[in-house]
Amino acid sequence: MKKKWWHNTIGYQIYPKSFQDSNGDGIGDIRGIINRLDYLKNLGINVIWVCPVNKSPMVDHGYDISDYDDIDPMFGSLADMEELIAEANKRGMKILMDLVVNHTSDQHEWFKKAMSDLNSKYADYYIIRDGVDGKEPNNWRSIFGGSAWEKIDGTENKYYLHLFTKAQPDLNWENPELREEIYAMINRWLDKGLGGFRVDAISHLKKDFTYKNIEPDGPDGFVNSFPYASNIDGIEVFLNELNERTFKPHDALTIGEVDDLTPEKLESFVGENGCFSTIFDFYHCFHNINSKEWHGDLPAMVADIRKKMFAKQECVAKTSGLLCNYNENHDTARSCNRFIPKEDINYFSKSMLAVMNNFLKGIIFIYQGQEIGMTDYPKKNINEYLDLATFNSYKGLLLEGLSEADALARINIECRENARTPMQWTSSYNAGFTEGKPWFDINPNCADINVAAQENDEKSLLSFYKKMIATRSRSDLVDAFIYGSVTPKYDDISGIIAYERALGDVKILVINNYSADMTTLDFEGDFTEMLLNNYPDLVLQNGKLMLLPYQSITVKL
Ligand code: NOJ
Ligand code: CA
Repeated sequence: MKKKWWHNTIGYQIYPKSFQDSNGDGIGDIRGIINRLDYLKNLGINVIWVCPVNKSPMVDHGYDISDYDDIDPMFGSLADMEELIAEANKRGMKILMDLVVNHTSDQHEWFKKAMSDLNSKYADYYIIRDGVDGKEPNNWRSIFGGSAWEKIDGTENKYYLHLFTKAQPDLNWENPELREEIYAMINRWLDKGLGGFRVDAISHLKKDFTYKNIEPDGPDGFVNSFPYASNIDGIEVFLNELNERTFKPHDALTIGEVDDLTPEKLESFVGENGCFSTIFDFYHCFHNINSKEWHGDLPAMVADIRKKMFAKQECVAKTSGLLCNYNENHDTARSCNRFIPKEDINYFSKSMLAVMNNFLKGIIFIYQGQEIGMTDYPKKNINEYLDLATFNSYKGLLLEGLSEADALARINIECRENARTPMQWTSSYNAGFTEGKPWFDINPNCADINVAAQENDEKSLLSFYKKMIATRSRSDLVDAFIYGSVTPKYDDISGIIAYERALGDVKILVINNYSADMTTLDFEGDFTEMLLNNYPDLVLQNGKLMLLPYQSITVKL
């Protein structure tokens, strides 16, 4: 594999609204990020992905952009953003922005012009169709619930497509003029010294233009649009052009939000000549120990995670590229709550989860607060939530026949807003996040879980993350971690997720006891160095390794 600058990425994702407020208005901002750059540097981070900060009416918290070239005043100014890029670069870190080009906001100039004149060229920047039999053009469901089509005011029978909320009209990528506008905008940002982009919802760029009505798959009469609007054949033509015209000439790091690629297609996405540098891997996204599917059966869920994790690793090993490994992001509940039974959520299980994922082949991303073990914050009332997607899911659950209490219980488990509570910097008033009233309630467990309490504690999760990152970045090991082969080990033993990483003479064995039981493994031979252990000791006697609950060890063989 040809080496690239971004292969050693230790990434950190920032959800800016909730990271650090600097002016007391209760909303995190760019200056707040600048003030915390040294914290991130100290953690060992070298790439920072900042979720959208462009001008936006915030219907989807910034994923509805009304001006790609400007910054929303809520987050600061364009000058602040330029300063953030420069300050990060000075410290040897690169900034990635979120590139949201599947859709714009309905307040974007293009959309406003399109709506005021359906004969203008801007109408063809979006996807507008005639209704059928007095209804929407077809029965696709929006990803956030309800129809994916919205009737255009003042017309008899015209609708526009929105795969997300109705305030996020989909762009028409079939239109070359639109594509040119997007490329020019991307290049303007890259010219400012940006490291690249996380590329939002990109698998939806191309739609199946037959727009058939399909047998409904739910009580709402709609149908999941994914088979007709995700990874549709021909999408690579757009993506390759996008790459050639923007990312490639700037040698940018781009991480596509794409899943469900066939092994054949994966090479064209992440390979050396692929349209992205890498993609976020979704292999674990649908696992939740509290969901109906797993109802607390940890061994069964671990077995499934193991199967899917190694299948993905095997699949990418056939390509000339790398995956991007992560445990959580702003669209998922917190990883400890998803992957660990409630009674076992502690330092050991949290550190085990970190190692399990971050020592796989590829680059890694950590989501803000994960490094201190932030947890979900379930609500007592649905109205304590703020996200449209949450309310739409809640309505959907009621429609399925759940009681209000059961629907809220499901939302509390699955909802992405769990990851969006403000960052817990200190145990003090408002967790050191803001001096004003926070835009979203802070989890009261900031009294125990916060950066200040962990920073100078050798035994804290934060210190463990620092050690883990330092190990992964160590000059004699880093290539094995990034490029080395992955061979599953002990895969017939329930609750164990173990693998060997190997490159040339360097061999590293990672063993995770993903269970609350003590487990004994055969261990012949010896290791030359204990690289990481989330317990103070390791019991190895007479060829037997005794692992304590959620013990994770990494040794150099
Ligand atoms: C994926 C983003 O991660 C999510 O937060 C957003 O709501 C959708 N794309 C729509 O842009
Ligand atoms: Ca602020």
